[in-house]
Amino acid sequence: MPEEILQTHKLHDRCEKALAERFTVHKLHMAADKDALLAEVEGRVRAVAGGNVDGALMDRLPKLEIIANFGVGYDSIDTKAARDRNIRVTNTPNVLNDAVAELTIGLMIALARRIPQADRFVREGKWAKVGYRLQTELNGKTVGILGLGRIGKEIATRCQAMRMRVVYHGRKRQADEPYIYYDNLVDMARDSDWLVLIAPGGKGTEQIVNREVLEALGPEGYLVNVARGTLVDEAAMLEMLKGWKLGGAALDVFEKEPAMDPGFWELDNVVLSPHQGSATHQTRDKMGDLVVANLVAHFDGEPLLSAVV
Ligand code: NAP
Ligand code: 8YV
Repeated sequence: MPEEILQTHKLHDRCEKALAERFTVHKLHMAADKDALLAEVEGRVRAVAGGNVDGALMDRLPKLEIIANFGVGYDSIDTKAARDRNIRVTNTPNVLNDAVAELTIGLMIALARRIPQADRFVREGKWAKVGYRLQTELNGKTVGILGLGRIGKEIATRCQAMRMRVVYHGRKRQADEPYIYYDNLVDMARDSDWLVLIAPGGKGTEQIVNREVLEALGPEGYLVNVARGTLVDEAAMLEMLKGWKLGGAALDVFEKEPAMDPGFWELDNVVLSPHQGSATHQTRDKMGDLVVANLVAHFDGEPLLSAVV
């Protein structure tokens, strides 16, 4: 008999197909009555595919052995609760580094040159009447990276290719990295033209980019968030963008998704993106493959490929 697993949200098509070939899959997100579905399957489910798993859901699933998250960030899973219940957790590191780093550079250029706004300017027939206003460049500028991890390092390399000066902040200095380290985020923001966020979400980084950090970045500074909306005091950011106390922001992630604050929509100094850092065919294929490979390894008694718990 195939093992029974619970899927908590929509996954990449290829991933869903592979899961269905190997397991009996119960789709919680599709159930009209979630409670009724859980009541029916709770005694048989041994794995979860996807995120959004808290201690209460774990308690509903007494046979649960493993949660395979679709994504490198696993802040939607209560890992302490999982550890306490001896439930393994896996994520999808590395396979998405290039896609996220590429989007980051894309967002930076889009914001510096106001590319979405320029596109609208042309489509609205304004070009024939007046030239487009002058913009700014990346080269020669300093970029401060909050979170020089797997993705942060790929962003750093690409920023160097743009002839930017790279500095970084994290909880500790990385002796092997050539970039200047700041142990204080406010100081780094003050010394940076661009602040790129690519640290994990969760309690340790909640609103780490507060008003003081945004003020240090200042009216000439640009914020890029490709990490999680929770890292930023979004209300303060919005207010400062409106008043031009912060130069601009390129945002792939928000406090609430997809029901983001519509206050951003009317601003000229922002570029908005629908949490699409990893959203390419090739990367989503690899992420899905890793979800499945972790589950298969677990049930075959092999070592997990990318365990976080
Ligand atoms: P990673 O390799 O674990 O790197 C995380 C970095 O953040 C590390 O350098 C770490 O350095 C730093 N960090 C962790 N906690 C911190 C704290 N409290 N204060 C300051 N720095 C801290 O992770 P990754 O694979 O690069 O992924 C990073 C995050 O990107 C994910 O967790 C996810 O939320 C986000 N992401 C977003 C998208 C998207 O679609 N937009 C796609 C993929 C990932 P120290 O240990 O030295 O502090
Ligand atoms: C995904 C991400 O969009 O990997 C992450 O942490 O944020 C993205 O790759 C997300 O996890 C899939 O829903």
